Amino acid sequence: MNIEQEINRRRTFAIISHPDAGKTTLTEKLLLFGGAIQVAGAVKSNKIKKTATSDFMEIERQRGISVATSVMGFEYKGKKINILDTPGHQDFAEDTFRTLTAADSVIVVIDVAKGVEAQTEKLVKVCRMRDIPIIIFINKLDREGKDAFDLLDEIEEKLQINVVPLSWPIGMGSSLKGVFNILDKQINLYNSDDKQRREEPLQIDKLDSGNLQKHIGSSAGELLDDLELVDTVYPDFNLVDYLSADISPVFFGSALYNFGVKELLDCFVDIAPRPQPVKTQQREIIPTENKFTGFVFKIHANMDPKHRDRIAFVRVCSGMFERNKNYFHVRAARNLKFSSPTAFMAEKKSIIEQAYPGDIIGIHDTGNFIIGDTLTEGENLKFLGIPSFSPEMFRYVENGDPMKSKQLAKGIDQLMDEGVAQLFINQFNGRKIIGTVGALQYEVIEYRLKHEYNATCRYKPVQLYKACWLRSNNAEQLADFKKRKYQFMAKDKHNRDVFLADSSYGLQIAQDKFPDIEFLFTSEFHP
Ligand code: G4P
Repeated sequence: MNIEQEINRRRTFAIISHPDAGKTTLTEKLLLFGGAIQVAGAVKSNKIKKTATSDFMEIERQRGISVATSVMGFEYKGKKINILDTPGHQDFAEDTFRTLTAADSVIVVIDVAKGVEAQTEKLVKVCRMRDIPIIIFINKLDREGKDAFDLLDEIEEKLQINVVPLSWPIGMGSSLKGVFNILDKQINLYNSDDKQRREEPLQIDKLDSGNLQKHIGSSAGELLDDLELVDTVYPDFNLVDYLSADISPVFFGSALYNFGVKELLDCFVDIAPRPQPVKTQQREIIPTENKFTGFVFKIHANMDPKHRDRIAFVRVCSGMFERNKNYFHVRAARNLKFSSPTAFMAEKKSIIEQAYPGDIIGIHDTGNFIIGDTLTEGENLKFLGIPSFSPEMFRYVENGDPMKSKQLAKGIDQLMDEGVAQLFINQFNGRKIIGTVGALQYEVIEYRLKHEYNATCRYKPVQLYKACWLRSNNAEQLADFKKRKYQFMAKDKHNRDVFLADSSYGLQIAQDKFPDIEFLFTSEFHP
């Protein structure tokens, strides 16, 4: 197979959902179809349950699992599918945002009873910012849920996307008969006794009630009415509109009962985008270019706290990656060679000789990488679009053990490289502030500083509302702003100016008074 064929057959995507909608269950069923696992239950839930916020063993376990399940590759119908796992817990949402930068498309899982939940809304917003094609899977059809039309209305309204149903439920909950596959005109009958089902669907060539009644009895009339309405209300499916993220196909099913999942997967391998061009500050990278390029979108500490080594996850963007070849680490301006790059197939890791655009490789790292780093064959490139989000929680961090200040500084530095949280240094009083998107991160940081760096930290409250990066063409106004607000000015890890607003009111006033300054709530990772 030549490189172009390798690229064409790759599908790299992420499954996103609000916790408990069924992401893990769906992932597992997709892996079952790909033959990557043999039995259900093999993929551990990659989430920290709410009740476990203080259970550090649970955090450790979670970290181990998320290395193993960070990327799950499998083959299906000649396609190489890479599923990028995203953390279930909302306090790790930032990790998810960054993982999306390495995905070419997403599948959004929605619970039929709960509809669009907060986390889904946040994540889809990020997908829309980047025009990532979205397929929606409405899950848990085996339970009573919202009316399908109402749910689609809710999705369109809350997620601001146009839906095109490609399958349709026949009943729901206790009266679930099956799903109708709109494109193929097939009925997939539901059987609640069979969780590993692989039955062949029924072909329905003529959509009339007599024909349908034979298979689904009295539900035939309702299905015909529904399909007529679907036909009038929603546009026809069109590949170009899906790929440009203008429409989102919708499937219905039950991941738990492996129902409606095959329809989803078959359609996905047909329509989902192959590896897409990627933007850099200098130019756009096309996957078919001869030379290798890739970027680090995630860094994960290894499980063994005695060895501070890490795994950097690199998305291959163009060319072919080869083991033991020299590659240029752009930020560090030096060449590096990787002797044991790993690929991930289901829950297994194995050393690979080469990788293609769309693939994710794990590189053993002893502290060379930070998120957003670029590898090339010599070209000076910087990938764009790896955001750092404005934290929503802030605490001063102080040294709890004067004998260990070096360890603490190093620990904080490395954890920030991993993207666990963000560090700001207040320019007025020199105090360090850690900003996160969720409270759980503080516990993780404290625990990991202790166990991996032998350092003790203490947190002190600080009343802050938001951290914003500043951008302006008006140098005079910017300088004036910084002078007036010097108490609230900080530097981030890359020495960029950050304004720490103490309230939404304070921020609003600043925005009104300094109209030439842009207050940014996300930033690229590099200066
Ligand atoms: P997540 O990764 O999105 O957080 O969700 P996960 O797959 O872990 O599913 C959350 C819960 O919902 C699990 O139950 C799971 O079994 C259940 N679930 C997933 N898909 C379906 C479905 O199609 N129908 C029904 N009825 N339930 C579904 P749990 O009790 O929290 O965990 P477990 O003990 O079953 O693992």
